Amino acid sequence: MRTKIVAGNWKMNLSVQEGVQLVNELKTALTNEKNLPAVVVAPPYLHIDSVVNELKATSIKTAAQDCSANKNGAFTGEVSAAMLQTTGASYVIIGHSERRTYFKESNGLLLEKIKQALANKLTPIFCIGEVLAEREAGIHFGVIEKQLQEVVFTLTSDEFKNIVIAYEPVWAIGTGKTASPEQAQEIHAFIRTLIGKKYDNALAQATSILYGGSCNAQNAPTLFAQPDVDGGLIGGASLKVNDFVQIIKSF
Ligand code: PGA
Repeated sequence: MRTKIVAGNWKMNLSVQEGVQLVNELKTALTNEKNLPAVVVAPPYLHIDSVVNELKATSIKTAAQDCSANKNGAFTGEVSAAMLQTTGASYVIIGHSERRTYFKESNGLLLEKIKQALANKLTPIFCIGEVLAEREAGIHFGVIEKQLQEVVFTLTSDEFKNIVIAYEPVWAIGTGKTASPEQAQEIHAFIRTLIGKKYDNALAQATSILYGGSCNAQNAPTLFAQPDVDGGLIGGASLKVNDFVQIIKSF
């Protein structure tokens, strides 16, 4: 059975104190809850140490929102995967559309980041997805296939088995426009088929594929009910503890 995951991407929000308070409330709200998916929070780098510390007696895991493509050295402002590993972070988001768009991150660079993450035993949550114009032009399947081919499909199956995929249609991120459950299922099934063709069916069945883009407490139950949707990468709604808890409990 593949892992169900609900991950909260805080983006560049909350002070360190507010972040610690949020995870404190989260852990209280989830105490005694049974049969939950894996829960992950992705605060800014600066918060990670305090957040990991606050969560240490719980099963809630911490992710970074990015990592450097380089191992170490003279890269002012960068944070390496090795550094993240020493904080106790378990996951790292790589290739979020905001990184691709605002920071011009290419598929080649993202592959280097993934290699750094894997070398440091962090689980990459690799984000893919089409922009609105690509969907309207009907080329979204090709766009998604290329993002996979140029990055994670260059990995060996032994490496790929550590990858989590997040399908995030860019037109749905922060816009309030969610993909319909049918649209999400269609793409998730497509991604799983591609993984099966590239590697094998067992690996395809074992890969967690998350949906992201305006996922909230109202639409999460129908999205998560789709057979190929294994959870969510949640932005805005992960900043409100009650909403995030409701999403987590949607499985
Ligand atoms: P959103 O963001 O839930 O605020 O749309 C999702 C994401 O960017 O991961």
